[in-house]
Amino acid sequence: MKKTPDQLRSHRWLGGNDERGFGHRSRTKQMGYALEDFQGKPVIAIVNTWSDLTTCHSHFRDRAQEVKRGVWQAGGFPVELPAMPVNETYMKPSPMMYRNFLAMETEELLRSQPIDGVVLMGGCDKTTPGLLMGAISMNLPAIYLPAGPMLRGNWNGKVLGSGSDVWKFWAEKRAGNISDCDWSEIEDGIARSPGHCMTMGTASTMTAIAETLGMTLPGASSIPAVDANHARMATSCGRRIVEMVWDDLKPRDILSESSFKNAITADMAIGGSTNAIIHLVALAGRAGIHLELKQFDEISQRTPMIANLRPSGEYLMEDFYYAGGLRALLKQIRGLLDVDAATVSGKTLGEGLDTARVFDEKVIRPLQQPVSALGGTAVLYGNLAPDGAVIKPTAAEPRLLQHVGRAVVFKNYDDLLARIDDDALPVDQHSVLVLQNAGPLGGPGMPEWGMLPLPRKLLTQGVRDMVRISDARMSGTSYGACVLHVSPESFIGGPLALVRDGDLIELDVAARKLELRVNDDELARRRADWKPQPPHYERGFGALYAAHVTQADKGCDFDFLEAGAETPDPATH
Ligand code: FES
Repeated sequence: MKKTPDQLRSHRWLGGNDERGFGHRSRTKQMGYALEDFQGKPVIAIVNTWSDLTTCHSHFRDRAQEVKRGVWQAGGFPVELPAMPVNETYMKPSPMMYRNFLAMETEELLRSQPIDGVVLMGGCDKTTPGLLMGAISMNLPAIYLPAGPMLRGNWNGKVLGSGSDVWKFWAEKRAGNISDCDWSEIEDGIARSPGHCMTMGTASTMTAIAETLGMTLPGASSIPAVDANHARMATSCGRRIVEMVWDDLKPRDILSESSFKNAITADMAIGGSTNAIIHLVALAGRAGIHLELKQFDEISQRTPMIANLRPSGEYLMEDFYYAGGLRALLKQIRGLLDVDAATVSGKTLGEGLDTARVFDEKVIRPLQQPVSALGGTAVLYGNLAPDGAVIKPTAAEPRLLQHVGRAVVFKNYDDLLARIDDDALPVDQHSVLVLQNAGPLGGPGMPEWGMLPLPRKLLTQGVRDMVRISDARMSGTSYGACVLHVSPESFIGGPLALVRDGDLIELDVAARKLELRVNDDELARRRADWKPQPPHYERGFGALYAAHVTQADKGCDFDFLEAGAETPDPATH
């Protein structure tokens, strides 16, 4: 049943024949709009995370205009609302601290104003989960407009990938293998267009997940930011959201347990960022669906990784688009998906895949020739991580996936930076580097420090990977035998806090095991000696964050924002 104009949520603000209705209409007219521009029309919010420092979204001012064009065409009234421009590049101590801020802001922007439906504009890592979390909680018709990846980087005829090639060439520079001039040229060539990181990092992973969840138009997540198809997709979002309002198609009508399983399956098939686990748990929580880390591992074990994309493979997102994009990949793994899952298009996920084709099997591999027979992420448990830890085995040197080594412990990131290149550091290629106090509360904000730099003296010996363990996250563009998200974190006394230099640590990815080989009596002694550190923040958002953030295995949402009782709509008088 289609809504009628007087059933629109915005009608309560703009339709009343009273002093309040007069006020709302007269102020809309203040912007130069006539009654016929907005009366009886769905008011569509365009929540835009543009800023001069959110470099991945530098095309969003244009895209907002293109969304508006579609909204006008379909008979809606578009209003642009700026939102916290969480960006991966500049925000400290970690943009992860501000994901929940953006989620809260999105929810309240929509709740407090006369909005009927929303186009969410994001792409840089945390913006996708932040915007979607808020929209799921508010549960108004919503469509996600992904920023699209930037073009391939280029240097001296070589293709450069965001993040991955920064780490790679930084290691070569520290090893003395490239010059300052080379380094400067790489800086010029690695980010050469609008759009988010173009490796299969967190941004590409989360936008692919948004599409698989059914929250974008089919095919939207793979279109490069500067492609004219991207602008046309933006206009289509504007047209479609107006229809969604009349049809009253809301996020929680679309999202189901199946759609989250589909999203995890896609995450494994693309070799997605480890960060996706945290975000998916939080997104599902907003929809009232409980995801366990074990489910990720189960799905990983039956899902081949078929996207040959860096950092686990060879190619970049631009190649992925030309090879057919996410729709083509999902079609390859169709048998592992619930293709009846709903999407914002009004069609099922499966119907959106019907015309998809793979154009380059080097980039999107056939199921019989995967990049890896298993998915891109493994979940580990053991006395060092009772609530779990994760690793991306496809991005690590295989010889390290079963490893026993002695710990070299850094008590925080400053300690790491101060000592990692000290020639006297007692470390060799078999050592296990351990970083403490880098989790949700310890970092704070669980920064992407999990790809610990290797000691220079080992780099010059040719070592390029070692086992590294932390309660931090790592960038989706990072690589290496990095065990991440160790839960509970060391800052609150998790077992990672009890590791000492020289302890033996066992990593066995096939057995999903992470063990500290120290006897229970000794661990009990160390636990008795452990002293909590003072909180990082006494006031402000940091204090709110510290009081309410959950651990990594729970999604790092705020406890009071997880699904629960509905928040009432405000009175409009
Ligand atoms: Fe924005 Fe990587 S810095 S996605």
